[in-house]
Amino acid sequence: MNQGICRNRKSIVGLVLGMLLFGLIAEVWAGPPLGHGRRHHLRSHQGHHGQGFAGDGFCPQLRTTVQAPDAIGNQANPLEASQETLYSGETLFQVDVQPVACKICHGVNGNGLGIMAQGLNPSPRNFNCKETMKEISDGQMFWIIRNGSPGTGMPAFKNLKDREIWQIVHYLRKLSQPRRR
Ligand code: HEC
Repeated sequence: MNQGICRNRKSIVGLVLGMLLFGLIAEVWAGPPLGHGRRHHLRSHQGHHGQGFAGDGFCPQLRTTVQAPDAIGNQANPLEASQETLYSGETLFQVDVQPVACKICHGVNGNGLGIMAQGLNPSPRNFNCKETMKEISDGQMFWIIRNGSPGTGMPAFKNLKDREIWQIVHYLRKLSQPRRR
């Protein structure tokens, strides 16, 4: 009887220790904690969203997009690239934009390899590609986001306010700058 209790206790202690050890290993294996708006490890971020593909994407990209009229094409971003602006842009790009968030096609890190990118021709813009991005003005981006790129998968986002589009444009610029790792 006593022996039975003793053995039970041992196995309970063993079980608890096992669980703790498992938790510890799982914690290390999962990598650093994640949260939106914070800088996080690329691989974990993609795993976390379970969407899109890693990699650098196509660069430079073949680009035949229609040119915006000069009046808007030459307009610089009227907003300051503050932390708030970048955060708002990121939130819109990753989550809030309706009916589909930009990341679905452009990828969570902007490499143009989102889950809906497959089969799109031309493929979504790779915002990580400096060579292609330096050809695209702020106003050009604004105009395409509002009106779409006819004959391609890039839809028009008529429901976004001017301010929201400019916030996204700042975030897209940030995506084309080298990442700190
Ligand atoms: C359904 C897929 C899809 C979604 C969703 C999407 N895009 Fe695109 N996007 C594309 C494709 C495809 C292109 C390439 C179009 C082209 O080559 O003209 C593109 C091109 C662009 C360009 C490049 C314009 C240029 O002049 O080169 C910008 C900027 C852009 N998208 C921003 C956005 C933003 C911001 C969102 C979210 C508000 C978004 N896209 C959502 C597919 C998408």
